[in-house]
Amino acid sequence: MSNLLATKPLEMIMAESSEGGEHSLKRALGATNLITLGIGAIIGAGIFVLTGAAAAQYAGPAIVLSFILAGIACAFAGLCYSEFAALIPIAGSAYTYGYATLGEIFAWIIGWDLILEYAFGAATVASGWSGYVNSFLQDYGIHLPPSLTATPGTDMVMYNNRWERLATILPTLQAHGVDPASLTHVQGSFNLVAFIGIVLVTVILVIGIQESANFNSAIVIIKVAIVLTFIAIAGGFILKNPEIAARNWHPFIPPNTGEFGHYGWSGIVRGAAVIFFAYIGFDAVSTAAQEAKKPQRDMPIGILGSLVICTILYILVSGLLTGVVSYTTLNVPDPVAVGIDHTGVRWGSVLVKLGAIAGLGSVMLVMLLGQSRVFFSMSRDGLLPEWAGAVHARFRTPWISSITVGIFVAIFASLIPIGILGELVSIGTLLAFVIVCAGVWILRVRRPDLPRPFKTPMVPFVPIMGILVAGLMMVSLPLSTWLRLIVWLAIGMVIYFGYGRHHSRVQAAAAGRQLK
Ligand code: ALA
Repeated sequence: MSNLLATKPLEMIMAESSEGGEHSLKRALGATNLITLGIGAIIGAGIFVLTGAAAAQYAGPAIVLSFILAGIACAFAGLCYSEFAALIPIAGSAYTYGYATLGEIFAWIIGWDLILEYAFGAATVASGWSGYVNSFLQDYGIHLPPSLTATPGTDMVMYNNRWERLATILPTLQAHGVDPASLTHVQGSFNLVAFIGIVLVTVILVIGIQESANFNSAIVIIKVAIVLTFIAIAGGFILKNPEIAARNWHPFIPPNTGEFGHYGWSGIVRGAAVIFFAYIGFDAVSTAAQEAKKPQRDMPIGILGSLVICTILYILVSGLLTGVVSYTTLNVPDPVAVGIDHTGVRWGSVLVKLGAIAGLGSVMLVMLLGQSRVFFSMSRDGLLPEWAGAVHARFRTPWISSITVGIFVAIFASLIPIGILGELVSIGTLLAFVIVCAGVWILRVRRPDLPRPFKTPMVPFVPIMGILVAGLMMVSLPLSTWLRLIVWLAIGMVIYFGYGRHHSRVQAAAAGRQLK
């Protein structure tokens, strides 16, 4: 049993982090690249899609408070990630931190769990991306075959000369007294658009880290510019029409309906748990640690900088959105576009849709980048086969791992419904947060001597708060999500005991020492 808890010696990890040569990853990223990488992963489906439903169903205008609450929760984890990423600048992120502090079995669990965050995260966002692409094309009269734009079993209907998902459009049909049975129906069979999105992003990832970072930076500039445009237009509208905003913001915290989570303070908390998805991604910066030029200095800047910038943008967007339109009308898949439509700026919604398409593209990119880097680290430790750690001699990227991840994620995205994917992402990410926060605290006790380039303030208060808040959000997730997590981890255990355990480098090194 004891060797299941073998920890990877920090000295061994640090030696690996300073390896060079053609079989190592390329150190090409500076502080700005890392901040844009974070923003690239963070701003996406969360703000462009989920904000509206969370405001309409749970928090009302107080969705702003939900964003502040979720932002504070992420700040605790962000501070802990920063300490680790500067101290152990290795591509494995939480997996490697777990290996250094809690032992191999926990490292495996966390590595396997990170698949839920990164691979399933990319698949979820690809699914949302395909919805926006489709909607945009239909705005210009281009209709793709509906069965190739949705996962198997999704009911698509033709309404107002557009193919729409029945589940999404049902409230509108009911409001207009349209019987869904009277519309033409087609069942989804394979979401080819999502599949193609993942394939394109994978190609960029294989070509190079600098190319990936440049592509990401270009998209981040576009999407931040579009978010700022929304803020300017909505802010201008509210300044001109303060009475409309005053009416929409009142009551700021709609009274609770008597049911937990439906408005009132409990609604703010539930809103925070839902829009937590919007913050996921700042931690992905840590998987680029082995590709950062100065990880000790720049990792905390990338992680915390992107988190702070996005928190401010989210608070502004959600506050202005609920001022421009009544929260009761925001339960739609494109709330930000609906908001801008209300200001009377006609080109606004086209711009927002383009922002979402570009924005979600970069989320997929950074999530897939994170996934292939975690596999790279697990393979270098022997817990996954050697091919997963192979670095392309010219591109200097973990190309086999990137392609394998890309193929699987493309298949998930085209076959599994977005709802199931999304719920797994949140629970997987929160579990990673709990382990990272615990790891920081454990390492402070065990190795107080280590020279830490960045120190999480107020230890153990901050890690404990990180564990508690993430733990509470996990508890608020449905039982079905927990069951899926358990099944997922059980599959991981079979692979670990069938393969990883027998090939572990740390175990081999420990056994070697014993033999001497
Ligand atoms: N934070 C990312 C998004 O909102 C995952 O799409």
